[in-house]
Amino acid sequence: MSQKGTIESLTGKNSQKKKSRIPAKMDFLQSATGAILALFITFHLLFESSILLGKESMYHLTKFFEGEFLIEGGSPLFIVFLALGISVVFILHALLAMRKFPSSYREYQRFRTHAKLMGHQDTNLWFIQISSGFMLFFLGSIHLFTMMTQAQNIGPFASSDRIYSDMAWPMYLMLLVSVVLHAGVGVYRLIVKWGWFDGSDPRASRRRHQKIIKGAVLFYLLIGLFSLATYIKIGYEHQADYGERYHLKGEVTHAD
Ligand code: HEM
Repeated sequence: MSQKGTIESLTGKNSQKKKSRIPAKMDFLQSATGAILALFITFHLLFESSILLGKESMYHLTKFFEGEFLIEGGSPLFIVFLALGISVVFILHALLAMRKFPSSYREYQRFRTHAKLMGHQDTNLWFIQISSGFMLFFLGSIHLFTMMTQAQNIGPFASSDRIYSDMAWPMYLMLLVSVVLHAGVGVYRLIVKWGWFDGSDPRASRRRHQKIIKGAVLFYLLIGLFSLATYIKIGYEHQADYGERYHLKGEVTHAD
């Protein structure tokens, strides 16, 4: 270090002057992209579960997202654009999250020892979030790519054929567990980090938030599992007619 540098570091003059705002901005951006994705997934899993109400409900919802209310018959291009937009947020969120990964195996081992010794809940939550996030790198990318390249193949039969006959269900099972845990822990940490809904007694609020988030995680896991089981059942029954599209009763012109 030069003499000037030594003096500046001793006086703290340089560090004060150059304190970067970039890490704070990155932190904010990571929270913001996470919140957008969490909001997206809460609605996505609910819409997906429309299959529990019957094939016709899922068909109408698919048509809605294909913009049938704007152009006759709708177009899968709307889904492609939606998937592109979500992919941009997803990639940005993953890039920002990479800063938080243990950077070496030794660092990871040190972390595990600490977590075991302390049994600290927040440390365990951090571990769940980092491992589910790692899974999402792959599973989320596969799913988003499929949605972009096969946007025309979404519907009660097309989705069920993919899930059952194309054997996508193990991937969806892992994706469901990873994304629900990741979003649940992520939203909890966001609430604690930014002090949302702290109220007059932050400790009591924290316990209340934990209960609500645990309930939401359980709810989304259950509707996700039931929906997946329903797609598997439809796909199983439809395997002999693989590739055939769903039509409303009496409908002859529009494919699903
Ligand atoms: C705009 C982008 C997206 C679209 C259009 C979309 C669409 C779909 C569709 C149509 C299905 C039913 C299965 C199929 O047809 O293959 C599905 C299932 C699923 N998607 Fe997405 N998806 C999108 C983004 C995401 C993202 C970013 C995640 C999480 C990282 C996600 C998580 C899931 C999960 C967990 C399931 C299984 C749901 C269940 O178990 O019922 N999706 N998605």
